[in-house]
Amino acid sequence: MTQDKETVRRKILTEAARRRLLLNPEALSMLVENYDENSFQSLLDKLAGTVGEQKGSLVVSGEMVARFISGQVKSEASTGVHPQVLAKEVEEKVEVLKSYEAKPFSDDLEARKQYFVDRYLKISSILRSRADLSPYYPLRKARSLPDGSEGKTIVMLYEKHENYLVVEDPETTVKIMIPKDCSRDLREKIDRLVPDSVIGVAFRVSGSKLFCRSLIFPDVPIKKARVAEEDVSVLMTSDIHFGSQKFSEKAFRRMIRWLRGGGLGERERNQAFKIKYIVIAGDLVDGVGVYPQQEKELQVKDVEKQYEMLLEILSQIPEYIRIIIIPGNHDAAPRALPQPPIFREYMKRMEASRNLLSLSNPCMVSLHGVRFLIYHGTSMEDIATFSKNASYDKPDNSMELMLQFRHLAPVYGSRTPLLTQGPDELVVEEVPDVFHTGHVHVFRSRVYKGIRLVNSGTWQERTKYQEQMGIMPTPNIAGILELKTGNFSEISFA
Ligand SMILES: [Fe+2]
Ligand SMILES: [Fe+2]
Repeated sequence: MTQDKETVRRKILTEAARRRLLLNPEALSMLVENYDENSFQSLLDKLAGTVGEQKGSLVVSGEMVARFISGQVKSEASTGVHPQVLAKEVEEKVEVLKSYEAKPFSDDLEARKQYFVDRYLKISSILRSRADLSPYYPLRKARSLPDGSEGKTIVMLYEKHENYLVVEDPETTVKIMIPKDCSRDLREKIDRLVPDSVIGVAFRVSGSKLFCRSLIFPDVPIKKARVAEEDVSVLMTSDIHFGSQKFSEKAFRRMIRWLRGGGLGERERNQAFKIKYIVIAGDLVDGVGVYPQQEKELQVKDVEKQYEMLLEILSQIPEYIRIIIIPGNHDAAPRALPQPPIFREYMKRMEASRNLLSLSNPCMVSLHGVRFLIYHGTSMEDIATFSKNASYDKPDNSMELMLQFRHLAPVYGSRTPLLTQGPDELVVEEVPDVFHTGHVHVFRSRVYKGIRLVNSGTWQERTKYQEQMGIMPTPNIAGILELKTGNFSEISFA
């Protein structure tokens, strides 16, 4: 039913006053001219959100109204639905492709040997499928070839020295010399090597010694990442460290408010309405007794309480959003990788009432057909120690190395505890579309060979330990991946 202009004018003024909006004459006349019974309330809501952010000013100009009207017309015409209801109306499509349950721990020597043979065989098979390794010789045979022979082999690195590598295969251990005049490419690859990684070696025999000619990394093929049919997004985050005195509660709550449609600008709010999934890649809480004298830096000193209070905050996230969590080294789960899901006793309350999916570290999940490899990233410390190409402030370089070695935590016996029995579950057998880690508290994202790498930062301000280590965290940023387009963006809640 058409309403006369005076009625419309009064209606708009009443609703604007309710939202504490002062419309200047131009703004009012534009709202009257473009009046639509079905959408004018939400238009005023959006205006209220924007002026509310502009340092308390409540005056709405004609220019602001024009911006909103043109934006709204455009988005409604292109999607055919109001953006606010998008993720809510899309059916969830989650498939857990890999998640590990707890295994009893034992330090059996034979089991450990088998574990490394399993790693060697799995990565060998990847290498053979990706590179020409002929003429191939196992190490024992390679050693006895006549001078001048050339060939290729597959080894696990035992030690890296300036002039030689000590390498092994399931039969024997051998020294491979690095020629003094080796190419730049070979030197760069040697610099990247970390112990216990499995690689191909092209060699030449000279003076009864093996000399390295080149190294072949298993690596990942260049691929086109899968995209979804549905226009929904995934929010990627990690390292909340709830319970720490340095937990950035204000920023975290600001993010939750935004997920509920409040705060920030129009563009960000429209992004929020598309979010169907939240992935938290470990270190949900700060834990208790994770490092010496941690209690001095804790706000909440009981781990059960930490989870309870965090889950209370998470329960304010709209119910149509599925939350996927994995443990990190601060969480209540066995430390050795793969870590099974966070102990059920802490999650029960949330699982009963909420859309929470608690998985292992690492795990592989398909969201609308897009495959996510989710891993906390503890091994980045070891990789940064041994590889010249990696450092704490560039976690994306460590992630790239993990893909090049096709292993999430190659180094054994250093800082990252590994569960060395049964098959090696940390080999990257299936190439993901998205590789998501955390742990080093630095937000970085880029694409490597078609795979979206995301290290999702933290919600903890700089700690004393990080000050001592010279680590500068980048807290309060969330990453957002649009599954339909593959577009990635970040929002700061600082
Ligand atoms: Fe962390
Ligand atoms: Fe961590």
